[in-house]
Amino acid sequence: MNKLCLLGLLVSLASQSAFAAAPAEPLKNKDAFIANLMKQMTEDEKIGQLRLISIGPEMPRELIRKEIAAGRIGGTFNSITRDENRPMQDAAMRGRLKIPMFFAYDVIHGHRTIFPISLGLAASWDMDAIAKVGRTSAVEAAADGIDMTFAPMVDIARDPRWGRTSEGFGEDTYLVSRISRVMVESFQGQSPANADSIMAAVKHFALYGAVEGGRDYNTVDMSPAKMYNDYLPPYRAAIDAGAGGVMVALNSINGVPATSNTWLMNDLLRKEWGFKGVTVSDHGAIGELIRHGVAKDGTEAAKLAIKAGIDLSMNDSLYGEDLPKLLKSGDVSQTDLDNAVREILGAKYDMGLFKDPYVRIGVASEDPADTYADSRLHREAARDVARRSLVLLENRNQTLPLKKAGTIALVGPLADAPIDMMGSWAAAGRPHQSVTVREGLRRALGDQAKVIYAKGSNVTGDKAIVDYLNFLNFDAPEIVDDPRPAAVMIAEAVKAAKQSDVVVAVVGESRGMSHESSSRTTLEIPASQRELIKALKATGKPLVLVLMNGRPLALAWEREQADAILETWFSGTEGGNAIADVLFGDYNPSGKLAITFPRSVGQIPMYYNHLRIGRPFTPGKPGNYTSQYFEEPNGPLYPFGYGLSYSDFSLSNLSLSSKTLKKGQTLDASIQVKNTGKHDGETVVQLYVQDVAASMSRPVQELKNFQKVMLKAGEERTLHFSISEEELKFWNNQLQFAAEPGDFNILIGLDSQAVQQQTFELL
Ligand code: NOJ
Repeated sequence: MNKLCLLGLLVSLASQSAFAAAPAEPLKNKDAFIANLMKQMTEDEKIGQLRLISIGPEMPRELIRKEIAAGRIGGTFNSITRDENRPMQDAAMRGRLKIPMFFAYDVIHGHRTIFPISLGLAASWDMDAIAKVGRTSAVEAAADGIDMTFAPMVDIARDPRWGRTSEGFGEDTYLVSRISRVMVESFQGQSPANADSIMAAVKHFALYGAVEGGRDYNTVDMSPAKMYNDYLPPYRAAIDAGAGGVMVALNSINGVPATSNTWLMNDLLRKEWGFKGVTVSDHGAIGELIRHGVAKDGTEAAKLAIKAGIDLSMNDSLYGEDLPKLLKSGDVSQTDLDNAVREILGAKYDMGLFKDPYVRIGVASEDPADTYADSRLHREAARDVARRSLVLLENRNQTLPLKKAGTIALVGPLADAPIDMMGSWAAAGRPHQSVTVREGLRRALGDQAKVIYAKGSNVTGDKAIVDYLNFLNFDAPEIVDDPRPAAVMIAEAVKAAKQSDVVVAVVGESRGMSHESSSRTTLEIPASQRELIKALKATGKPLVLVLMNGRPLALAWEREQADAILETWFSGTEGGNAIADVLFGDYNPSGKLAITFPRSVGQIPMYYNHLRIGRPFTPGKPGNYTSQYFEEPNGPLYPFGYGLSYSDFSLSNLSLSSKTLKKGQTLDASIQVKNTGKHDGETVVQLYVQDVAASMSRPVQELKNFQKVMLKAGEERTLHFSISEEELKFWNNQLQFAAEPGDFNILIGLDSQAVQQQTFELL
């Protein structure tokens, strides 16, 4: 805890009220129960409810408990075991009104069992697998006494320089919105009140993924139509699915910080979307209103935030310090305060905490004997989901799958990197429980084949970068460098390669390179690793690159060197086993990119569903005066929706049930998909729509549906997609949401580029 927080705690340790708790209103009427409770609360107690504090190891526990009992804290985050949270809840129960605490945490892609990072989960295009992640995470977190997660993170990311690209589900509005809904439903289960459910607080509202230049915490400037069409729907999907909370973004939007943005928080979220849950500021964001330059001091910042509708203040003392005087002066009304308190108490009610404050904390006698026990993990689920998230980018000469025979050189700084397997925001995951690629290969092979391991290089040779990454607030140093000279490490790896039949090089980013506050100016694999790849290539041995990274990388050079490339993101606790399953063909890869991979950083922003323009670059017809960069080929290196399999799939006979569609009716698009390869496998058939001529320029194509299908070798199936006016609607510049009559193209493909097309007319 920093000195400021400690001071805040000490200062606010004032007298405890002597009132006894009034008889409780029957619990079954939420509004009446909360209204009755609020009638009994003092102003101090109300302000206390707005305070959400982070619990670090250094925090004075006794002081916190006193604060809680005095009604000066509403909830905590980062306290993540039952025996940590129980004494705090006990303290709340000693309080005058016995208002329960709630305990929150960043459960993003797993809690104790770590699943692939969200960008990897999205690459599965598998809603059942994603539901499994949400449910398993909720069960594990709830079993540790956690009531709320700051997730899902559904910021659309179209600039991979942004380090938090790893934390979201990619660039596409439709895919992210579907995942958003699934995550909320699976976190919250039948009800967020259930003992094995946690409440979802969707974040970061809003548009955080569009920070200028991909530089974290930067500003966002965006047209209303772009917001409504592309960036807002995933948050809306979470809210429509019943998310109980919303975390507010750190960025400004068209000059107004989200944290003081009354249009965003009141007009859009509450009035237009009907959100009734709780809102929470991001870490210290209320105080940051001063640095944004919209508040002259803390008092004004507190006023702006509460008036905008920010209920909970995360690790920020301003509400506590300034609301009493703001209420006295009338700058903040009793109604402003009551609205916030009502929403916080409402969320506690919805989490089942008034009914049973210990609903998730349970009784001490039932606490796990060992919080970190391996038996508490869900390894099978983690392996299953991780396999589905891997994307095969290249496979020349059927280099993969590898035989379980002969000698394999396993090299690379990430081949045996337990902390990196977990990715960033790894909740309560423990590195020693991760299966690394080295361990996965060992288990898969037993004594059937020999593995020669050599690290080959450090993640980066740039000491300043290592220092930066190690400064990030993680439990252990992120990067432990091998002190040997680079040439010695490469020589060792080359020797291993020469003694082997094939080389598997695990390269990419350390997990901290794709994290909050880890924006990059280049998308390249660091030079130390590229030197390694070059030396390995020179041995002439087949070279398989296993990539670990949390953002699209610029891989044009690597593509030339490698015989096969497997994108594995940061694949979680069971990542090493899942990767071995794919490398040896025990699982046929089925993942597809949920984000475009550009050729170089200079092409950014590059996303598949960009608006149409007057002078598009036309492949096969290069020339001046079309939209292009002249130094390198145009278009992405790997498009959105792309991913190979050990089978081949073909599409044929796209047909529409009608050439016209009347409003209120539906049209059927059917297509045959065939597994023409020798292995059973899954693929994702993707349906895109293009509005041929509208009242404003519309995207070249937009994903509107998909089906992930398993086909046996040789099997053929006809798939049907239903299309209605709904899929054709968009927000125009007057912010009317409507479909405009005229021609539409339907494009169906196995990725966003190789598509078949048919046209119909909306009447
Ligand atoms: C700051 C991050 O921006 C946010 O995503 C996270 O939920 C909070 N810290 C709490 O850890």
